Amino acid sequence: MDIKRVLVADAVDAACTELLKKNSIEVDCKYKLPKAQLIAEIKNYDALIVRSDTKVTADVIKAATNLKVIGRAGAGVDNIDVKAATDNKVVVLNTPGGNAISACELTCALITNLARNVTAASASLKAGRWDRKLYAGHELSGKTLAIIGLGRIGKEVAIRMQAWGMTTIGYDPIITAEQAKEFNVEYLPLEQLWPRADYITVHTPLIPATRNLINNAALDVCKKGVRIINVARGGIVNEADVLDALKSGQCGGAAIDVFEQEPPTNPVTLELIAHEKVVATPHLGASTAEAQVRVAVEVSEQIIALTGKNAQYTAAPGIINRSVLENN
Ligand SMILES: NC(=O)c1ccc[n+]([C@@H]2O[C@H](COP(=O)([O-])OP(=O)(O)OC[C@H]3O[C@@H](n4cnc5c(N)ncnc54)[C@H](O)[C@@H]3O)[C@@H](O)[C@H]2O)c1
Repeated sequence: MDIKRVLVADAVDAACTELLKKNSIEVDCKYKLPKAQLIAEIKNYDALIVRSDTKVTADVIKAATNLKVIGRAGAGVDNIDVKAATDNKVVVLNTPGGNAISACELTCALITNLARNVTAASASLKAGRWDRKLYAGHELSGKTLAIIGLGRIGKEVAIRMQAWGMTTIGYDPIITAEQAKEFNVEYLPLEQLWPRADYITVHTPLIPATRNLINNAALDVCKKGVRIINVARGGIVNEADVLDALKSGQCGGAAIDVFEQEPPTNPVTLELIAHEKVVATPHLGASTAEAQVRVAVEVSEQIIALTGKNAQYTAAPGIINRSVLENN
């Protein structure tokens, strides 16, 4: 693939541009371009690199007459119109593994935070109170963690929380019970998983099958006081239903890093974030120094691999629409 000029449209670690330049690819970094300017300039580039800010919509792709690749430095491609890209023979790729450990570690931090009310107790102390009784927690040892989605992140969460003494159960349609057993997760269908869980964490993509996966019906058959964690994608956990369950006491706490709308303005989401039993973070799963360097390097490596000009880089495992390559 002939890739001479790359536009980096969102702030990506400098490791990305350094590697491209080392491989004789010209790079322009132009962040936060207004859409009209992006549409005007995109025809000058063979590849586009984004994180989350730039929305690569169908009209941008249509204007991109020379574009061959759109690379997302991160997991997920929610801000890219993959269908429009595929129709226009543009490869879309992401860096699926690059931030898995960071997202896993945030999940584990949120689980332990929920168990011991760290955020609420800290806020109370900073506000001048000394509420020791109010913030008594419980041990994680002996509790059951249900993990929905046993891919890269879900598996790593299981391994780490087992070290805290948690029993891990889980579900994933492409993983077998034998595979789950290899990392000490008891594989269960969802209907058997709900009533056993003290904590439920989701690590799936947002797809029709996972939208509203944690809803009233699921929460109703859980143990009273079940805790919910979402460091995957907004929309997998139904925000209104979790808020209702928090109010009734059916849900004992929730930790949420991702929202149906980001930044959130919807009153239900804002009420959920403000609830005393909720720990909320502004989509920080991948926000570590290590993950940012890793995704920056991985997106460049894959673009270089597509040029076929450096024997050191030959794989592009993050391609979403491989049919574009096959049909060319
Ligand atoms: N908060 C953040 O900043 C952040 C950072 C990294 C990743 N993520 C998100 O975390 C999620 C998991 O990422 P990953 O790298 O582990 O992905 P992955 O592809 O390695 O694993 C996802 C797993 O979900 C499973 N799955 C699909 N449909 C399912 C269903 N209906 N029920 C149960 N499981 C189902 C898949 O089979 C797969 O094994 C993704 O949504 C990703 O976008 C968020």
